Amino acid sequence: MKVRRIGLLTGGGDCPGLNAVIRAVIKTALNEHDMEVVGIEDGYEGLVLRRSRPLGLDDASGILTVGGTLLGTSNRSNPFGYPVERGGKLVFEDRSDDVAAYVQDLKLDALVCVGGDGTLSIAHKLFVERGIHSIGIPKTIDNDLYGTDQTVGFDSALTTATEAIDKLHTTAQSHHRVMVIEVMGRNAGWLALAAGLTGGGDVILIPEIPFKMESVCKVMEERVRRGKRFSIIVVAEGAYPEGGEPFVKRRVADSMESARLGGVGEWVGREVERMTGMETRVTTLGHLQRGGTPTPFDRLLATRFGREAVKLVAKGEVDRMVALRGTEITSVPLGEVAGRQRKVPPDSHWIACARSLGVGLGE
Ligand code: F6P
Repeated sequence: MKVRRIGLLTGGGDCPGLNAVIRAVIKTALNEHDMEVVGIEDGYEGLVLRRSRPLGLDDASGILTVGGTLLGTSNRSNPFGYPVERGGKLVFEDRSDDVAAYVQDLKLDALVCVGGDGTLSIAHKLFVERGIHSIGIPKTIDNDLYGTDQTVGFDSALTTATEAIDKLHTTAQSHHRVMVIEVMGRNAGWLALAAGLTGGGDVILIPEIPFKMESVCKVMEERVRRGKRFSIIVVAEGAYPEGGEPFVKRRVADSMESARLGGVGEWVGREVERMTGMETRVTTLGHLQRGGTPTPFDRLLATRFGREAVKLVAKGEVDRMVALRGTEITSVPLGEVAGRQRKVPPDSHWIACARSLGVGLGE
């Protein structure tokens, strides 16, 4: 069957590179396959609330370098558990029937869903339970999606975090201070580990290796003995001390949104000051990591992923996610990706590099 019309949505947290994906999908669909593209607004919210608009070549113009997503996004609109207020109480309703009806009314042959684990798990469930065809494109600054070596957005966030660490170095050196920087990443340490290595952190704390404060402080003290009166500690928001738990800023009732992490940086900073007496400052990088223009790497990845997703749709493939394996673009079943998280493995080359270079991991 010839695919005539596809829907395109971006779900979950925004990141640099989403517009580059949108551009590649529109251009490939229109230029090479004579398909029509319908943009769904604000992720699955647009499918539940019937908000969409046609996308043409003009929409794809001038957006390659622009951060965010022109379609809007949402991480609180799971159609299988859609939040609504009833009698002053928040309840979650199954609105997947509405989604199926809207997809049919729009005459969409397939959806291209750009998102992280939440968005792609829903795409898979919509296929299994409602027969809605979709192809997923992996994006998240956390880089924690199963089945792909890298996600769109990670390289840009890494660049922001690296630049921030470079800047913190100057104050650390000038004031002889310990500077702690908390970076995002949810329950995976990819961003902290990579930024710690590229920014020259002295200690890197990640969720995959619960840390001991004695071991963290030993690094600072050894550096002082060698005449280095400053240190940089890079902490993943999901890192936690041995025997403890991740620091949760806010628990959420929503079935799509995860608990918001944060606060471990402040805690580590206080402990370093208390245990070593060294003056310490803490920076939480926050949503700066999700903003700005995508790096050339992310622009290229977004372009390759966007094109490949349309090619798969055109071939009649369904329920798959495009993926990067080494330097090649491939695809994997969405069912293999859904509900799984890719954490930094203990035998990661990045961890081995940190150890070889004498970077403290709090072990
Ligand atoms: O998944 C991307 C991410 O930025 C995480 O690194 C972070 O924990 C979370 O989203 C923050 O979510 P929100 O934008 O809802 O505060």
